[in-house]
Amino acid sequence: MNNGATTVLALGISLLMGPFLLQAIADDHRDKKTHKARELAAPANKLYTERCGGCHLAYPTVLLPSASWRRILTGQSDHFGEDLSLGQLERQELLTYLDANAADKSSSKISRKIMKSLRGQAPLRITEIPYIIHKHKDDDVPKGAFQRKSVGSFANCGACHPRAADGDFDDDDVKIPAQ
Ligand code: HEC
Ligand code: HEC
Repeated sequence: MNNGATTVLALGISLLMGPFLLQAIADDHRDKKTHKARELAAPANKLYTERCGGCHLAYPTVLLPSASWRRILTGQSDHFGEDLSLGQLERQELLTYLDANAADKSSSKISRKIMKSLRGQAPLRITEIPYIIHKHKDDDVPKGAFQRKSVGSFANCGACHPRAADGDFDDDDVKIPAQ
């Protein structure tokens, strides 16, 4: 075969294969994304979503260490001014679930960063974690954004992170509501 024919053949093959290659790259990217989300989200627990997802997002359990979840459950009769009225058995089931799926039991990147930044502290709020505060400095979150009508507070993760419920806080997906 002369050179010209080889080039034409190679061109033909890449034109044919191009779309398949692009699809393969897209699939790989999607796999990585779903894998990341799966890694972060704890297995669903009905009691947790029912009792802890009514007033706000059922926060991904990997965002706080088990010592924090324990403090939250111990103080359930005065939970930021609300009485959660959990029964003894409910409290025990929630504690078992939260303890097993807490930040200090997770190998996800976000949990490791959270644990490192906490240096042994066990805050009652995710929004008090140094790493989380650090990720929301003025140069990333415009002043006053947390007070916008459709956001309300820093604790309303889902207002800006559409997949917050799955524990996916990828910065590519962040959308700050205009008002
Ligand atoms: C009756 C309503 C209600 C229920 C039910 C409820 N919470 Fe809350 N929770 C609140 C309020 C109010 C706040 C404070 C929100 C704020 O400051 O914006 C809060 C805040 C939190 C925060 C801190 C958010 C931050 O600032 O990082 C965590 C964590 C939390 N709740 C966990 C739980 C858990 C676990 C349960 C279930 C055992 C639960 N909540 C059930 C009302 C509720
Ligand atoms: C007002 C909108 C807003 C709210 C509410 C909000 N975030 Fe964010 N978040 C952002 C922005 C903007 C960034 C930075 C994106 C960037 O770096 O480009 C960010 C970044 C992050 C990151 C780092 C992501 C990465 O890939 O590095 C994490 C983790 C995160 N947020 C978690 C939370 C959690 C948990 C809550 C709720 C307790 C929350 N956010 C509430 C807007 C928000």
